[in-house]
Amino acid sequence: MSWDIEKIKTDLNGDIGGASSLDMLEAVRLKYLGKKGLVQSIYAALSSAGPEEKKSLGKGANDIKTLAEALIAERKKSLVTQSQRRDAIDVSIPGVGRVVGTQHLITQTVEEICQVFERMGFVLQQGPEIETEFNNFSALNIPLDHPSRDSFDTFYLDQPDPEAAGRYLLLRSHTSPGQVRVMQHNKPPLAVIIPGKVYRPDALDASHSFMFHQIEGLLVDKHVTFADLKGLLTSFCRKYFGPDVKMRFRPHFFPFTEPSAEVDIQSNIFKGREGKWLEILGCGMVHPKVFASAGYPEGEYTGLAFGLGVERIAMLKHGIGDIRTFVENDMRFLKQF
Ligand code: PHE
Repeated sequence: MSWDIEKIKTDLNGDIGGASSLDMLEAVRLKYLGKKGLVQSIYAALSSAGPEEKKSLGKGANDIKTLAEALIAERKKSLVTQSQRRDAIDVSIPGVGRVVGTQHLITQTVEEICQVFERMGFVLQQGPEIETEFNNFSALNIPLDHPSRDSFDTFYLDQPDPEAAGRYLLLRSHTSPGQVRVMQHNKPPLAVIIPGKVYRPDALDASHSFMFHQIEGLLVDKHVTFADLKGLLTSFCRKYFGPDVKMRFRPHFFPFTEPSAEVDIQSNIFKGREGKWLEILGCGMVHPKVFASAGYPEGEYTGLAFGLGVERIAMLKHGIGDIRTFVENDMRFLKQF
């Protein structure tokens, strides 16, 4: 067998250059310097070589050995530094901040509004989102032929009401059934605030959503008057929207209150809508028929009730133009509050 020393040196250089990892470099070392490697094979061949050949071949094998050892050591060094550099911590790179969640703007608004009433002595209550037709309509003096009972205005479930034959359960379309539940289980005097989600089959657009939030208020005692209602809501508006808020009670109709009103306010905290009259709630004196369906004795109590629209108030207060932004979970929106 003849050995081309120069070609082996060229191959060695190529192999070293191609070794891109320490494992690959070890394979190269074994190929040239291992027990069964090329250098050992050349030494083994020396015994059968002639004297001249023995001399040049021996020198060639020694040269390859020295060269391989040097090149491998050098390559190893650079591979090690490379991998260390990859693992090292670069303290100049800006850190990755941990994203801390915040309360949703609707939750914040509900809490802020409820706190104002809680400070005035109202007790927080909660009612279920699935209601009976009785609590959502009948007990609130809403007649059977009232348009709000229509399936275009209320989500009915395909679940029959176990307590009323032929009637179906529904998703409450306002928080007023909370009033009914409170009165069924409590005797006056009582003052409650009932926040919650309500549902209506409205087509989704900038100002309508099939789900939104209301806050219901109810106060019942022996001599509650319309003056109490005006005083209470005026002091709420001053606390929540600022002492300079202008407000007006505009006559309205609700089957479950008599007389009824809607409250409009003008406030300079309403971004872009300053100076305009904007409706924020419905209210009135509890209708005697509502007391009757709660089982309260006739003529004994009077009460006031109101219902606030949470999305509307949050939109006015923060200059939000589209109700859909509340449910889109866009971080750029959520982070602002
Ligand atoms: N439930 C009424 C609505 O959804 C609001 C309201 C509540 C009005 C209580 C009067 C009293 O529009």
